[in-house]
Amino acid sequence: MDQEALKRQAAQAALEYVDGGLIGIGTGSTVNYFIDLLAGIKHKIDGTVSSSEASTQRLRGHGIQVLDLNSTGNLSVYIDGADESNHQLQLIKGGGGALTREKIIAAASKTFVCIADNSKLVKALGSFPLPVEVIPMARSLVARQLLKLGGTPVWREGVVTDNGNHILDVHKLNITHPLELEQTINNMPGVVTVGLFALRPADILILGTPTGVKILRD
Ligand code: 5RP
Repeated sequence: MDQEALKRQAAQAALEYVDGGLIGIGTGSTVNYFIDLLAGIKHKIDGTVSSSEASTQRLRGHGIQVLDLNSTGNLSVYIDGADESNHQLQLIKGGGGALTREKIIAAASKTFVCIADNSKLVKALGSFPLPVEVIPMARSLVARQLLKLGGTPVWREGVVTDNGNHILDVHKLNITHPLELEQTINNMPGVVTVGLFALRPADILILGTPTGVKILRD
């Protein structure tokens, strides 16, 4: 089974967690499969809140309503992918650059269901470079602070987030204490969001595997 089939398998299994109400929608190739499948049951939900312009376009293309989080209150469930997950369901996210809105929606949702192929499950986070969204004028300042933490920040040149900011991808970080590291990076002036989801991890991780779907719970 190829990786795309595994992503689709996880997306299909996530439909079980959609029980009406308002659904938070993440960003990325795995979520794209979910959006396409959600179109088949769109009459069962009240609407969605989207984490990116790309997901919004895809949702609207299917005739699925996209609402502003300011008008909805909290959401019942949030479906999103990840770049890495450990066994505590702490995640690295932001490979697609949507980390800030993703973190906002995760915080606003009762249940966070993460969908991925099984290559995303790791023993320790950090092989995938950690994305950090920064205010453009603070990019070098933040990069120097990240160097002091032992990481190697690389500017994702040419990329501007949906919020008008820049992204630093931090390589070679030793993420042994995700909770502490998330808070440390969050506290750096100029940082908008770090793509470490440890303070608010996923509640459920659905993995597509060659032998069928595997479900992990926090
Ligand atoms: C976007 C994300 C995505 O969830 C993450 O990059 C995984 O994407 P994909 O499903 O394409 O592997 O965090 O900001």
